[in-house]
Amino acid sequence: MGHRRSLSAARALLAGLISIGGWALAPRTDAAKPEPDPAAGRAAFEQHCARCHGPQAAGDGYDAKRLYPRPRDLTEGVFKFRSTATGTAPADEDLFRTLTDGLPGSGMPDWRHLDEAVRWQLVYYIKSLSPVFEDSPAQPVDLGRDPGRRRVDLAAGKQVYEKLRCAACHGAQGRADGTSAPSLVDNWGRATRPADLTQGWNYRGGSDPKAIVTRVLAGIDGTPMPSYAEATTPEEAWQLAYYVRSLQQEPNWSMIVRAPRLDGGLPSSLDDPRWQQAPRVEVRLRNAMDEAGEWARAQTISTVSFRAAQDGQSIRFLVSWQDPTDDRGDAPDALALALPSAKVLGDSVTLQLWPMRSSPPLDLCVWSAASSRAVEGVVRRYEPLLQAGGASAVPIEAASAYADGQWQVMLTRPLAPALPNSARAAPGRLTPVAFAVWDGGNGGQRATSSWVDVMMEAAPPSTAAERAPATWLWILAAGVVVLGLVWIVKKPQA
Ligand code: HEC
Ligand code: HEC
Repeated sequence: MGHRRSLSAARALLAGLISIGGWALAPRTDAAKPEPDPAAGRAAFEQHCARCHGPQAAGDGYDAKRLYPRPRDLTEGVFKFRSTATGTAPADEDLFRTLTDGLPGSGMPDWRHLDEAVRWQLVYYIKSLSPVFEDSPAQPVDLGRDPGRRRVDLAAGKQVYEKLRCAACHGAQGRADGTSAPSLVDNWGRATRPADLTQGWNYRGGSDPKAIVTRVLAGIDGTPMPSYAEATTPEEAWQLAYYVRSLQQEPNWSMIVRAPRLDGGLPSSLDDPRWQQAPRVEVRLRNAMDEAGEWARAQTISTVSFRAAQDGQSIRFLVSWQDPTDDRGDAPDALALALPSAKVLGDSVTLQLWPMRSSPPLDLCVWSAASSRAVEGVVRRYEPLLQAGGASAVPIEAASAYADGQWQVMLTRPLAPALPNSARAAPGRLTPVAFAVWDGGNGGQRATSSWVDVMMEAAPPSTAAERAPATWLWILAAGVVVLGLVWIVKKPQA
């Protein structure tokens, strides 16, 4: 035993040495850079990039209008995600990273599937498009040294966040709800929004501490996010970055969520601790297009979180989402929880394209911040329910609260409502649900999700009579196991 352990320790040591050696000998990224080949760069650009960035890279490809933010005019020489001083060109590695990872939370896809050599040719091609690379060559910012997570004091980082007034835009909890947030405009004259720092998955330039330090010291050119290179030191910036990192939530992306039957019935309030027993799931949203088929507004609501619990009669949903402003007036915030109606099969209707002229009806539970009330109806459009009512709508139980840039709404519907053509849910079955959310403070922009299946736990056997068959089965199984063991023990050795 001891011999075997020392052997495996030696093997682990050897593996460690080999990997360290491999790392030391591995070619640096520079060595992998090919020689520029302008024709290859141009060809790759036309093939992959022109549909958004335009044939002359002026940001006017045929797909441009259906994106927000718009694809960049690459001839202008303004780059957001740099590791270089504000106003100077990005480093080659910055562009390479943008191509490799894409810009999450925007229309810019990742290009990891392209050969590295092709990505480098694209980098060279981008550099040939604008004089900024000659006139203001890349000037790396001094990032100092990463102190490491264990040596960082998050409380000190929070103080830097306060001192540098990051909250004016990003909000006290990082939920993009700072007082300046709704009025920001970018260099191209379009309304823009601060990043929601709690949503690490939407950071365009990377969400690890090094990426955050880089953003803070280099700034995000073309946007209201300034460079803090003059206002702070690299030491402070690292503390700040670890603090910002600590604000990021751990999302639970899932296409299916369990709606348990909780002891003692449904959770009774938004903050009932028994909600913790129902798993939380995150669902992504996309802005709905306007009538011209364009995206014209920033996406302020990109993710919804929800939980569900049921008692065999009703199902209760706890839905929460980040919304930078609490809007209850003429353009109120609102939520629709969609279920398929009896007229549609499961999740076959895409909310992104609903409603259209011939859309089938959906079963919607709609809550509006204007009234703090909710109704359910089987409808072909949102409006009758948003305007609280309509002949065939029935009121449903709702509770809601807004705090620190976040709405929480609790909706309860019967599993099988008395409404004609309504969605009938039942324990032991999957029920698809999807979400539409309106942000009154963002021009009433609607964002919608795809469908997620709610799995309602089957009812536990309640009476002794119901439980009896299961008990007998267990006894039978135990008997079989015992007999089997006896047989093995008694078996004559071969
Ligand atoms: C589907 C549309 C789309 C395609 C295809 C696309 N881009 Fe983009 N790209 C965008 C959008 C949108 C932005 C702006 C994102 C932002 O401002 O946050 C962008 C931004 C950029 C930027 C600016 C990064 C910065 O730091 O400011 C570069 C460089 C870029 N794209 C290069 C490319 C290249 C090279 C290709 C082809 C391999 C490509 N893009 C293909 C949509 C696209
Ligand atoms: C004047 C408003 C403003 C202030 C102040 C501000 N930011 Fe920002 N910040 C923005 C905007 C706008 C964006 C989104 C830029 C974009 O992607 O278009 C942003 C984006 C970011 C991002 C996300 C970058 C990414 O990769 O997507 C981080 C991280 C960030 N800010 C951190 C900070 C920190 C830390 C501070 C304080 C030192 C700060 N910001 C101060 C406006 C601001």
